[in-house]
Amino acid sequence: MSNCYVIILAAGKGTRMKSKLYKVLHKIAGKSMVEHVLTQVEEILPQKIITVVGYGADAIKMQLGERSSYVLQKEQLGTGHAVMQARTLLEKKYGETLVISGDTPLLTARTLKNLCKYHVKNHASLTVLTAKVDDPTGYGRIIRNHLGEIKKIIEQKDATQKEAYVQEINTGIYVFDNELLFTALSKLNTNNAQGEYYLTDIIEIFKNSGHSVLAFQISSFEETLGINDRLALAKANSLMRERINKFHMMNGVTLLDSASTYIEADVKIDSDTTIEGNVNLKGQSKIGSNVFIGSGSEIIDSILEDNTKVIRSVIEKSILKKGSNAGPFAHLRAQSKLEKNAHVGNFVEVKAATLKEGVKAGHLSYVGDAKIGREVNLGAGVIFVNYDGKNKFKSQIDDYAFIGSNSNIIAPIHIGENAIIATGSTINQDVPKDALALGRARQIVKKGYAKRYNHYHKDD
Ligand code: UD1
Ligand code: MG
Repeated sequence: MSNCYVIILAAGKGTRMKSKLYKVLHKIAGKSMVEHVLTQVEEILPQKIITVVGYGADAIKMQLGERSSYVLQKEQLGTGHAVMQARTLLEKKYGETLVISGDTPLLTARTLKNLCKYHVKNHASLTVLTAKVDDPTGYGRIIRNHLGEIKKIIEQKDATQKEAYVQEINTGIYVFDNELLFTALSKLNTNNAQGEYYLTDIIEIFKNSGHSVLAFQISSFEETLGINDRLALAKANSLMRERINKFHMMNGVTLLDSASTYIEADVKIDSDTTIEGNVNLKGQSKIGSNVFIGSGSEIIDSILEDNTKVIRSVIEKSILKKGSNAGPFAHLRAQSKLEKNAHVGNFVEVKAATLKEGVKAGHLSYVGDAKIGREVNLGAGVIFVNYDGKNKFKSQIDDYAFIGSNSNIIAPIHIGENAIIATGSTINQDVPKDALALGRARQIVKKGYAKRYNHYHKDD
């Protein structure tokens, strides 16, 4: 639409959530409800988006940033009162205004576009998006006249028993002629069960002034699910998960047990990747093509390039370059990087370390604050001792070095190219290129001494 404005209502506290967190900041698939709404609204390319904030205003502003303008609703006197707050920014503007609740995170841009198209095509002054539902509990009911035209919206708390049976509900999404909207808002009152300025009363005000009001019924009710409590939150999460998983499967990703794979909204996955059940992919993660992610893995804000493999591991804010692999039971913490074909195996923890091409750390190691050169072998149980109780220190191991099992590498330290560290060493001095370093006690063998302890030969 050419002159289109949007008002997102997000000032309510969300009492029914029973939460310290403001309602619209609760997350669905890793993204707050209000951000989901904003992302869809942006797709209709409106001239201006205004978010009405009140409870949690600063937190909402911080999250949405400059993607929206904001008006403050100091007291939460109802949805009509919330829209009134946008008066100074919109009142005299020619065009249409879409009003949408911040608690309908499943709504799609496609539906919004269809709603706007319907509104314009039918020269309506106000179009309400409605839906038919099995259980209308909690929603405003759409009351139609004998001609089937929308007459009014009645809130559940104000409904007669007969009205309460109506199964067509108000989704809380409307398109208005902008100028008529602000004229009509002045006529709202608080004569209702909740003593609030209901935006829904505006239907009758428009009709009484002779303006055309239409209802546009959406076929998929699920899109318009309004989240007022934790039950609806769980329902929305599960519907969103289905939607996201379907999208990836249609793009060529194999999900072996889609029902238990949880992929957040912003995660990207290329085709021919296989993901087992019980996997969580979170944040801004990017998964390449032909990747395998095994059951029990969690990938957070990480990049897995093509042909990588992760088995039962946790990968946070890290990068796996092409052909590298982690697990089973590896933990990559922030700023870790496995370069081409590098491997970390069982019970290996990596933190802020780069493992260059072909590095192997197969078993029971801690690799922290380190740069490990090409083809370096870290034996079982190698520990980078990077912390003295006060400060963290860095280690560097050059290409082709071999670090024997159960060695302690005490940082800060530099081990040169091709160097060998004998197994069981505690190394606290730099080791030059091509050197062998031993940092362990020499073995002593005392023949016959074992007998002194009599531990086998009780009768001797
Ligand atoms: C509202 C509708 C109801 C509809 C339902 C759809 C009214 C009176 N009722 O009810 O007909 O079926 O949505 O989900 O409009 N808000 C403010 N300021 C306020 C009050 C609310 O910004 O003073 C915001 C809330 O943050 C929320 C949205 O408006 O995002 C809707 O408010 P909510 O309390 O959830 O209304 P419902 O009871 O769901
Ligand atoms: Mg609601």
